Amino acid sequence: MNDGKQLDRRSFLGLITWFIGGSIGAGYSIPAIAYIVGPAARKEEDQAWLRLGAASKVELGTPTLFKIKVERQTGWITNEKELSVYVLTENGRDFVAMSNICTHLGCRVRWIASQDQFFCPCHNAAFSKNGEVIDGPPPRPLNQYQVKEEDGQLFVLGG
Ligand code: FES
Repeated sequence: MNDGKQLDRRSFLGLITWFIGGSIGAGYSIPAIAYIVGPAARKEEDQAWLRLGAASKVELGTPTLFKIKVERQTGWITNEKELSVYVLTENGRDFVAMSNICTHLGCRVRWIASQDQFFCPCHNAAFSKNGEVIDGPPPRPLNQYQVKEEDGQLFVLGG
């Protein structure tokens, strides 16, 4: 009977020891794990408005290429990427911003002014100036960005 009480006391002290040790361990390890895993678990980057440049650069009716550098953070790695965006306007007020990445397999399209269309050299695809597929294997039009003009400057969302 007395042994049973001692055993209970030992078990109780053992539990208390484990509890205190576990609390201290959790107190150190949870913030450390969050510090290590947090950036990697975060989404690539929150979308932000990226400044392309002067709206006056865009010729009426002609897709105009803007190239900007965008810094991206993926986990612990920060790298710089070039973003190329074609901007089209027919009236100088309403703008369409299109990716220069072909929707087939991701090659870069380029504007061919003499043919009034975008051309993708990888599989000879053609897109209209609005980015619609005219010819070739691309499954959908060129991707578009949300675009806005402020104080004569063009901005696109995300990238
Ligand atoms: S990648 Fe552009 S047509 Fe194939």
